[in-house]
Amino acid sequence: MCAQSFSLTKQQVLDFKKEGYLILPSFLPENLVNSLKAEVDRWVDQGFRQKSIAGCKEKHPPELMELELGEHGWLISYPPLMTILEQLMGTSFAFHHLHSDRHDSGCTHKNWHHDYEQYPQSNRSHAMVHVFHYLNGLDGAIADLVVVPRTQYEVMDKRALDCFGVDTLPHEIAINNLPAGTTVIAHSAIFHARRAKPFSVGKVPPRYFIDCSYCQVGVRWPQVKPYWRGMLAKARELKLDRGTWKDLFDEKHFYDPFEILPQFDQINQGSLIEKLIA
Ligand SMILES: [Fe+2]
Repeated sequence: MCAQSFSLTKQQVLDFKKEGYLILPSFLPENLVNSLKAEVDRWVDQGFRQKSIAGCKEKHPPELMELELGEHGWLISYPPLMTILEQLMGTSFAFHHLHSDRHDSGCTHKNWHHDYEQYPQSNRSHAMVHVFHYLNGLDGAIADLVVVPRTQYEVMDKRALDCFGVDTLPHEIAINNLPAGTTVIAHSAIFHARRAKPFSVGKVPPRYFIDCSYCQVGVRWPQVKPYWRGMLAKARELKLDRGTWKDLFDEKHFYDPFEILPQFDQINQGSLIEKLIA
């Protein structure tokens, strides 16, 4: 990466498109990492993380969302990241969600899956990316990020490989040696997993993890949180777009899939293409 401009080299852009992920070592500066870690501790230790999971089926936003924590909100539109996303997705993209968590020794696995939002899973014409910020880096002690490069263009259900748990897959890459403040940008459709390690008896530094997702403008994307309108409104109220990235929190790039899914399941039967034949 060019240190002054924060832009990617042409090779990095090509690598992302081909492999489906990109690692930016020590991307976040130390002072920002420390502020974010303090916010994650508050989020987890004061029970807001648990409340946000419990309340994720409600239309009303929970009493506190990640983007209201302070630096978490500004991280969404962190200018060096925006410059990079513009190189990977074009100039217009929208914010989808932000999650924040702290994994301690003995944390659970997350089975093989991808996170590309689409009903039905049918193409990859527009990009969606997940940006993983590892505030303490990764050291192999608590859990590895494992990815299978080049799977982002294989159109499959999100949980198509769930039957393999976190078993080793051909051509997988285990990412377990990253310095603090490292950011991994992944195409949302790449298959990945969190492979947890056995509980450590000694004290092990926690695995701080912030996950922020973005969608390329051009189609409407399904939301996953019923309170997404309130979430985007709060981001606009806080002016987290910095007056620059106007599409970031615009509702027009999303739709609410929850109530129409049963109807969709009725349509999504048999040979879909034949529905175009008169
Ligand atoms: Fe994921």
